[in-house]
Amino acid sequence: MREIAVFGGSSHPALTAEICAHLAVPQRPVLLKRFANDCLEVQLQSNCRERDVFIIQSLVRPVQENLVELLLMADAARGASAARVNAVIPHYAYARSDKKDAPRISIGGRLVADLLVTAGVDRVLTLNLHSPQVHGFFSVPVDHLHALRELAGHFRQRDLSNAVVVSPDLGYAKSAAAFARRLGLPVAAGAKERVSDSEVHITAIIGDVAGHDVIILDDEISRGTTVFELLDRLREQGARSIAVACTHGLFADNALDKLAAAEVTEIVCTNTAPLEAEHPKLTVLSVAPALAEAISRIHNGESVSSLFDH
Ligand code: R5P
Repeated sequence: MREIAVFGGSSHPALTAEICAHLAVPQRPVLLKRFANDCLEVQLQSNCRERDVFIIQSLVRPVQENLVELLLMADAARGASAARVNAVIPHYAYARSDKKDAPRISIGGRLVADLLVTAGVDRVLTLNLHSPQVHGFFSVPVDHLHALRELAGHFRQRDLSNAVVVSPDLGYAKSAAAFARRLGLPVAAGAKERVSDSEVHITAIIGDVAGHDVIILDDEISRGTTVFELLDRLREQGARSIAVACTHGLFADNALDKLAAAEVTEIVCTNTAPLEAEHPKLTVLSVAPALAEAISRIHNGESVSSLFDH
């Protein structure tokens, strides 16, 4: 069996440390240098030759810096004769750029997938891509996990006798339905149209929410525009209480405080992105055990999908 070598980029050191602790392996050191011309250079400071190398880097703010760092780390591992280079990307931010929905726009999700492979990445492990078909942008194997098990585990501790799961849009309704099934709950979905990064319209809710305790489930909360629009519709339709859950808690533009002030009962996310702020209404669930288990299975050539099936 080839030795495992785990390196972490600078995007989310706490998650890397937690994953290494679960795997009971040391985190290998990385030296990052920035030159006077602003170019970066990475040196992996531990032997990679014939190792199964895992590089953990979340594509979170500053996304471009973290992306280049990941590309350079993959290049360095390949150049150091790694047996296999695995990119562990808990949040793949460019997944939101997945279609040509305006003339002459870039499709970053596909381009970044190609860049990773060009840099030497042989395999990707990621969580909750914005849309499942982004998986197909990669020409190397992708293990695509979700956090429904962790999120469902949290809500099982709540009184769910009157609860309903609501997806903000039809695109995420399949995942919301899978989540609802885990909890034995009904599901509803919003009819959402995104006008711009900061404007969405939800014109209707398909399903019964009146008098119910709603759990909103989305893949990510960025500015919170989607959730705020959904809160308005749910209140108009007489929802009794509203909790909010997502995998990627990005909380741009002070979204966490604004959401907490919007009279939601609680906000639940995972730690795929490092959180800059805390709030008494916020619970952060760790995906480190799931990622560590997946890394261990990938390394040992065991099934990953059997662990994380919807
Ligand atoms: C978009 O379609 C996604 O599923 C999320 O709803 C979206 O990324 C959330 O972004 P924001 O919080 O800025 O509305």
